[in-house]
Amino acid sequence: MKLVTVVIKPFKLEEVRESLSTIGITGLTVTEVKGFGRQKGHAELYRGAEYNVNFLPKVKIELAISDESLDEVISTITQAAYTGKIGDGKIFVTHLEHVVRIRTGETDEAAL
Ligand SMILES: Nc1ncnc2c1ncn2[C@@H]1O[C@H](COP(=O)(O)OP(=O)(O)OP(=O)(O)O)[C@@H](O)[C@H]1O
Ligand SMILES: [Mg+2]
Repeated sequence: MKLVTVVIKPFKLEEVRESLSTIGITGLTVTEVKGFGRQKGHAELYRGAEYNVNFLPKVKIELAISDESLDEVISTITQAAYTGKIGDGKIFVTHLEHVVRIRTGETDEAAL
């Protein structure tokens, strides 16, 4: 299993959620976060200029998925979250060791 953590522009959340529903993703968690990437929260950086880091509002999505669905999940999120402008976000993938569905006691892929 994989834990996919995605940071996107907030206005893209609904489009990403809808596209993930269409490929059968059954659960996800969303958190409002703040962050910065290479531009450090600025639209442009000027050589030699002093600058401060600005945190920009972003949305973080976490979803636990099977290994088999990883490629489809990544391509679906990438298409839905894409604008082509800076700050479109990132997808982080980590190995997920164990999942428990509390109500049923099911574990791992059966619990997703
Ligand atoms: N290396 C990182 N580690 C953790 N979070 C990151 C990292 N890079 C980006 N993020 C998160 O993703 C958000 C969006 O990043 P962003 O898309 O601006 O990355 P970027 O590398 O600057 O790419 P771009 O040049 O397209 O803007 C950031 O605000 C931050 O929350
Ligand atoms: Mg950036």
